[in-house]
Amino acid sequence: MRIAFIGDIVGRPGRKIIKENLKSIRKEFNIDFVIANGENASHGFGLTIESSKELFSSGIDLITGGNHSFDKKKDMSVLLENGAVLRPHNYPDGVIGTGLKICDVKVDSDSEKVEKLAVLNLMGQYSMPIVDNPFNLAKKVIQELKEKNIKNIFIDFHGEATSEKRVMLMMFKGKVSAICGTHTHVGTDDLQIYENTAYLSDIGLTGCYDNVIGMDSYAPIQRATTGLGTHFEVPNSCFSILQMMIVDIKDGVAINSFKIKKLCNNSDLIITKATIL
Ligand code: FE2
Repeated sequence: MRIAFIGDIVGRPGRKIIKENLKSIRKEFNIDFVIANGENASHGFGLTIESSKELFSSGIDLITGGNHSFDKKKDMSVLLENGAVLRPHNYPDGVIGTGLKICDVKVDSDSEKVEKLAVLNLMGQYSMPIVDNPFNLAKKVIQELKEKNIKNIFIDFHGEATSEKRVMLMMFKGKVSAICGTHTHVGTDDLQIYENTAYLSDIGLTGCYDNVIGMDSYAPIQRATTGLGTHFEVPNSCFSILQMMIVDIKDGVAINSFKIKKLCNNSDLIITKATIL
């Protein structure tokens, strides 16, 4: 199966570039399933029901989350309850929703052939809300998935620290199909396949690319220079980017991976192949 992963979609500009490009990219590259982190998709903070509908109709199959998952709490509760959206699996017991979904992926558009794909959404602990240990939980979940003979496993690890993300790779290389980091909004240059696991520390945002992590620069500069916090806003217009990680998985193994970047001012796609380790 060929899956695609889109990182933090930031506000309307992020949703717009997806709406304008995802379906054609999906068709051109024969992508079977698209996962996207949507915790910043509505006004930069959280996810509304309306935005989720827009993303699903633009070609996204499953939405993951992070530390902003509950910023639009009322809408998120509905989305989590009906299972359309994930939040980090390591939120403590008692928090609504789940961070694990076993999906049926139609792998050949001309037939009814379906394969299982487990998507696991986790959150790091450095500079994040108080959550359970993501590494110990991942170990337990992966073991349970293997016992159910589910081999295709994709992890969205939402974290601030690249070191935590590398730990996740070193613990689960060869055991899961792919691990992709989200949250920093800045893409890293370390796409690789390490012992059959596709890995990228952070895919980077989809949205405005010409400011501070997708937000108008005014408030971040005010905060940096005065120490006073003001509300961050998503710009009305900007230079936008769509960034996707593509992974080909066979029997749980990542056999190929590359990254696609689509810039708003250029019809050509920028494609970067994974380093094989
Ligand atoms: Fe985040």
